[in-house]
Amino acid sequence: MSREEAVKLLKEHVKTEQLYRHSLAVEAGMRAYAKHFGEDEEAWGLLGLLHDIDFEKYPEVHPAKAPELLGPAGFDQDFIDAILSHGLNAEAMRTDQKRKALSAVDQMSSFIIAVARMRPEYFDGLKAKSVKKKMKDKAFAKAVDRDDLEATREALGVEFADHIDILVQGLVEQEEKLKEEGFSLLG
Ligand SMILES: [Fe+2]
Ligand SMILES: [Fe+2]
Repeated sequence: MSREEAVKLLKEHVKTEQLYRHSLAVEAGMRAYAKHFGEDEEAWGLLGLLHDIDFEKYPEVHPAKAPELLGPAGFDQDFIDAILSHGLNAEAMRTDQKRKALSAVDQMSSFIIAVARMRPEYFDGLKAKSVKKKMKDKAFAKAVDRDDLEATREALGVEFADHIDILVQGLVEQEEKLKEEGFSLLG
């Protein structure tokens, strides 16, 4: 499936701009990690783009309904299992780097965007130190589980500073592409 087709499919099931933005952020993070590991940027990007496809309609059981939405669209079992592997208590399914990356990228991409939003220069010059500081600030982005951010990063085997640098780079590239379409990750 092309990216264009995947965006079309996503938009059939995701109507809120917030979730669409999050999907684009995770796509960016996955593409950045595919590049980092020398893997398939298109395939990893699609995984990020579509990982929350069932969330809006089925928040209670997410991502369990994703197979129903993705199977008929022609995605193979490995792709579907990779999406299922980012669910709660699905650590045992995170058997390869692509799956580990998806869980490590998921909440952290949006957390970085939340940090960037607080800065006048947005992503420009955004370093791991600023992200760390916000992670320690319990009042900031309260819903984000810091232990999960760290556990998923450690499972991927990447140092904190590298993790942030890789993701910021991916987000900056995504933001540049989106700007041409008159859209922004920053809202
Ligand atoms: Fe999710
Ligand atoms: Fe997500």
